[in-house]
Amino acid sequence: MSGADVSPVPAGSAVTAAALAEGLDVTGCRRPGAPLVLFASVEVAPFAHVGGLGDVAGSLPVALAEAGVRVIVVTPWYGELPAPPGPVEPTTMQLVVPGLSGPETFQVWRGELRGSVPVLFLANPTLFGLPQVYIPDRDRERFAAFSRAVVALLHVLPVEILHANDWHTSLAVIWHREQRFRSRALFPQRSVLTIHNLAHQGITDVGYARALGLEVEGLIEEERSRYPDTVNLLARGILAADAVTTVSPRYAEEIRTPALGEGLDRLLRQRTDRVFGILNGIDTAWYNPATDPALPGHFTADQPQGKELCKRALVRELDLPGAGEQPLVGVVSRLDRQKGIDLLVEAIDELVALGVHLVILGTGDATLERQIAEASRRFPHAVVSVLRFDGELARRIYAASDLFLMPSRFEPCGIGQLIAVRYGAVPVVHRTGGLADTVHQWDAARATGNGFLFDELTPEALLAAVRRALEVYRRPVEWQRLVKNALQTDVSWARSARAYVQVYEVILGLAAQASGHGGGAGFSDDVDE
Ligand code: GLC
Repeated sequence: MSGADVSPVPAGSAVTAAALAEGLDVTGCRRPGAPLVLFASVEVAPFAHVGGLGDVAGSLPVALAEAGVRVIVVTPWYGELPAPPGPVEPTTMQLVVPGLSGPETFQVWRGELRGSVPVLFLANPTLFGLPQVYIPDRDRERFAAFSRAVVALLHVLPVEILHANDWHTSLAVIWHREQRFRSRALFPQRSVLTIHNLAHQGITDVGYARALGLEVEGLIEEERSRYPDTVNLLARGILAADAVTTVSPRYAEEIRTPALGEGLDRLLRQRTDRVFGILNGIDTAWYNPATDPALPGHFTADQPQGKELCKRALVRELDLPGAGEQPLVGVVSRLDRQKGIDLLVEAIDELVALGVHLVILGTGDATLERQIAEASRRFPHAVVSVLRFDGELARRIYAASDLFLMPSRFEPCGIGQLIAVRYGAVPVVHRTGGLADTVHQWDAARATGNGFLFDELTPEALLAAVRRALEVYRRPVEWQRLVKNALQTDVSWARSARAYVQVYEVILGLAAQASGHGGGAGFSDDVDE
């Protein structure tokens, strides 16, 4: 079984690739000659949403389309398919690709993201029949087959850029490169791999990787040294992609160091001229405190009064004492070590002693959940924990909070702090990754900055930053200025979407150099043919 075995099989009589492309309206675009991008992700909000990857895949493509590229999103369909008419419709296209135990067939369904970007849903009830994105034991098999189907689509759509995300679709980049090696004419596309979190690499033992159809001869140094006899899907994707991006400039630097390189820093240093850090944005139409239907009051930077209303309402909703006089500190997070929630747990008693109300929303690690639940029992009048995922409550917390805590150990970009500033909650964050790129230290003398940062990863440093923030909170004029700065922070996708377009243009040879990081070594075609 090799990467070349993929074959799109049109089902029924009338379907041709061209018809599919036409039906998808990939011919119309705002900018003549704009590249067509196939954006592959295993999570796309709002269809399937587990974490930050889903947020990005559900919003970046829309911004890319607005920046002038044509873009089609491709993602698995999880669970049962709805009977039409529904949010998705069947096409007559199917893709048959090699799987672990024989050919796998994907029916192609289509829908739309925010009414504008076409989305292809690849449906296969055997692999993706459960309404669940991740099934750890089976993910390599499931995402390998999906990645093959993505490569098969390259046969039938006039795609110029394959844009994959994380290890799950890294395989599509790897197989695409193998195919291009065999036939540049059939596979002229260029590829981009975006790393959302280097901690997840898709490490697979050699035998299994071979069964999945990977050419595993010649392990790379990282595979031999770190976990012997394994294949590292992300590492191979990094090597195969024409450009590698990650989700903030600072993380792009950090992952080239042994401290945060998760064992792949050498590889990333080798590819330095092709590694770009591009900051994530958020969908500012969706996350909009001026219109958000989940909020009891609305506000903007110029008319911030509604925020007070949101705070009073939340204090009531959560049964906290008072009418919102105390500073409200919000935490909306996956509860795990990456997010530094263990530091928060250690700091809770002192935080309460500072006289704040603390609201924590999220799920995660069982021990941390238990410790947080215990703290809210210990301090029923100061600490509220809601251990579930609730998007609307999350937005009410962002809107009500004065401070937003995010003590992440490492953070490729982070979305919580972006939503926080958008909703006027002043972030207090560890200076790492995307947090360092998006939160700027408040400077009273110049009235600049939108939050507070701390350097050492200790409960003491976290508390010291909260204390500094509370000093400003007690000076209302200064505080209002700080909240206004937060509310005015540009967290939209616009600038970043343009940076992605530049990367596409560079790897297509349409531009000499991309902005952001890049050694300017040029992007010569390095397929060894
Ligand atoms: C991952 C990262 C997070 C980032 C998100 C989207 O979840 O941990 O920092 O914001 O991906 O790129």
